[in-house]
Amino acid sequence: MVENFKSIAIVGLGRVGTAMAVLLWRQGFRDLRVCDRNPSKIKALTELLDGPITACSTPAQTVAGVELVLLAVQDRYIAELADNLAISGLDADPGGCFFAHLSGSLTSEALQPLAAMEAITFSLHPLQSVADAEGGVQVLAGSYFSFEGDERAFPVAQTLVTACGGNLVRLAAVDKVLYHAAAVVSSNFFIALEEMAITMMTGIGVDADTARRMLLPLIRGSFENLERVSPVEALTGPIVRGDDQTVAAHLAALRKKFPDYVSAYRLLAGLNVDLAKQRGEVTYADFPSLKP
Ligand SMILES: NC(=O)c1ccc[n+]([C@@H]2O[C@H](COP(=O)([O-])OP(=O)(O)OC[C@H]3O[C@@H](n4cnc5c(N)ncnc54)[C@H](OP(=O)(O)O)[C@@H]3O)[C@@H](O)[C@H]2O)c1
Repeated sequence: MVENFKSIAIVGLGRVGTAMAVLLWRQGFRDLRVCDRNPSKIKALTELLDGPITACSTPAQTVAGVELVLLAVQDRYIAELADNLAISGLDADPGGCFFAHLSGSLTSEALQPLAAMEAITFSLHPLQSVADAEGGVQVLAGSYFSFEGDERAFPVAQTLVTACGGNLVRLAAVDKVLYHAAAVVSSNFFIALEEMAITMMTGIGVDADTARRMLLPLIRGSFENLERVSPVEALTGPIVRGDDQTVAAHLAALRKKFPDYVSAYRLLAGLNVDLAKQRGEVTYADFPSLKP
């Protein structure tokens, strides 16, 4: 049971809003109000719960008199929604209420119009890739969430994240952009890299679905290595073995069949050399094929 606050409003029942609503509900939290501009989203949430939930028709109705409000809408709507709620939408004084958004790239500054009305504002970003609400229920538990904003909200965020089964870390507003860029590198760029590998496999006649299945155990192996040891220790492959001939052959094959991938390969190979150097096993001089 969530103890620090009694009522929670969630505006926006997309992937993350729905998943968090389900997690809070399952923790016994029943004073939960939700809204979305699409009624099918309310229905979808209801189907994941074992009882009726209070659904409101507007954000203003949803947040009125509630102690903790989560704006789980797309990033591009957060400031506009905060502005609308502050200007005309609030039936009750938001002073002392906690308002959060869930964006990784925006800071709590996006909620400034509410802070100006004495609301306690923060951003609470789940560091996770949530492709759908049901998957979100599984993956958010055990994920890290980052807190940024009014320090008075930290205990509230802690209670909320604990209820969702997650872990909480503090971030300074000034660091949020780089934090989010790191998340993009780790998650989105990883997907782009796997698509690159799949496309290379299709270039030798393996169908894309088979290629994805072939690569998955390799990905899992690397992932499991990274669970145990640092990237420096986890690295395997031709670069850490100092095998410039193999690297040169890869580059020649890519130039012939996938010239668009050459620059990405060179860049990442350079990062691999950086790692291998830390192991003391190779230097840049060992890789003439990577010279500009
Ligand atoms: N998905 C992820 O992997 C992920 C991970 C971490 C953090 N986040 C953050 O979580 C937040 C939500 O992301 P999401 O992926 O869950 O987005 P989403 O699936 O697109 O859901 C947002 C929902 O909010 C609704 N909405 C927008 N404006 C509204 C309004 N004024 N009143 C009522 N409903 C409104 C949208 O309706 P319409 O569809 O009609 O616009 C949509 O149903 C974002 O800040 C995002 O950065 C997402």
